Amino acid sequence: MKTQRIAEILKSGAVNTDIVVKGWVRTKRGNKNVAFIALNDGSCMANIQIVVDLAVIPEEQLKAVTTGACLRVDGKLVESPASGQGVEVQAEKIEIYGTADPETYPLQKKGHSLEFLRDIAYLRPRTNTFGAVLRIRHAMAYAIHKYFNDRGFYYLHTPLITGSDCEGAGAMFNVTTLDISNPPRTEEGKVDYSQDFFGKPCNLTVSGQLEGELGALSLGQIYTFGPTFRAEHSNTPRHLAEFWMIEPEMAFYELEDNMELAEDFLKYLIQYALDNCREDLEFMNKMWDKELIERLEFVLKNDFVRLDYTEGIEILKASGRKFEFPCEWGCDLQSEHERYLVEEHFKRPVILINYPKEIKAFYMKQNEDGKTVRAMDVLFPKIGEIIGGSEREADYGKLTARVNELGMNEQDVWWYLDTRRWGSAPHSGFGLGFERLLLFVTGMANIRDVIPFPRTPNNAEF
Ligand code: 4AD
Ligand code: MG
Repeated sequence: MKTQRIAEILKSGAVNTDIVVKGWVRTKRGNKNVAFIALNDGSCMANIQIVVDLAVIPEEQLKAVTTGACLRVDGKLVESPASGQGVEVQAEKIEIYGTADPETYPLQKKGHSLEFLRDIAYLRPRTNTFGAVLRIRHAMAYAIHKYFNDRGFYYLHTPLITGSDCEGAGAMFNVTTLDISNPPRTEEGKVDYSQDFFGKPCNLTVSGQLEGELGALSLGQIYTFGPTFRAEHSNTPRHLAEFWMIEPEMAFYELEDNMELAEDFLKYLIQYALDNCREDLEFMNKMWDKELIERLEFVLKNDFVRLDYTEGIEILKASGRKFEFPCEWGCDLQSEHERYLVEEHFKRPVILINYPKEIKAFYMKQNEDGKTVRAMDVLFPKIGEIIGGSEREADYGKLTARVNELGMNEQDVWWYLDTRRWGSAPHSGFGLGFERLLLFVTGMANIRDVIPFPRTPNNAEF
């Protein structure tokens, strides 16, 4: 007989039919006549109750049915007399696939701290919290593809191994097959990368944007959605060394269009979560963040503020607030500044635009004033920067001049510069940090808790 998933059974299972369920034991209780097993198979938050008549299944066999054990249960789906659940399974046969010794099973008890669960990241998806987070994570990934597909964007697979440094900020992870304890050397004593696998130094990508732009300038509208890598030693609750990023890139979009897309996209994703992940969101709201659902609904209902960086600095200076990092025109905003603007001053998301060119990447379109670029960062409550993007410099001369001004090597990005030589076009794009989105949507406070296997300094165990 076909195994049914618990989510399916609870939604539409027909009572008084034979049934097979398989899953992991959450709890077992009972008396000398009957045992109750709460079984979870990961398909949803809810467990299904298995009722075991000890006259049918001997108590001896139930001894190994402990928290964490994996079972197959054959039985009948019946209406449940207990309140709070519509149906339950009357067990006729139980097969134990895998036992879980109560003496050693780390999730024997409930209510572990998130820190403890991080140390057993390979088991934490079996908890209610991580089950919810990972189901929401899946739903968001699906919604992202749906959003773009429904609007005629193409999913472009940009490379993970690259020879260029897109953002020009932060250290990158090198990719090499050379023997690092004894690499070949040139006559000047430098590492001879011509003998390396790719014949030159290569890294894991920090962003798919540069290749994404090639896609926009041919397919019109593309998006990337893949892992990116930054060897930053920033041990914060908002940074990972390996994170996923969504990067749409659109020909013929100016900064205004880019902002509109970013706001519409974020609202769509939040609405999708509210419509499709209700049970999990309610759990997160109850357990971790009492204002979660309210905050999600609030963002949906309100227009994002659009503000010039210069005005933003004036507001911060006039705030009378003592920031850890004082700010002046020209400084890069810290998360304390971003959150002041969003949470205290405007009390809604802010899109900050026209940043000083010195603190932004080389590819951003230069404004007439010679000082600022057409950058946009979307700032969110509790998160700070959730999206970074810009209109791109489409003028070959200006872009090349900026590359040289910054002391970059033209030869490293010759192919990118070439796109401005033939059929250049105004275009824009942005990058949404997938885990930052998930922090916002799940109400979790630490980015290590919204990705199955976080990669941070000194942490790559599993
Ligand atoms: O602002 P960033 O560095 O922008 C870019 O990489 C551009 N190439 C994007 C584009 O225009 N196509 O990164 C974009 C977003 C940030 O706003 C943040 O949400 C997330 O990526 N992000 C990180 N998320 C987790 N850990 C890190 N270390 C992150 N660094 C950036
Ligand atoms: Mg940024």
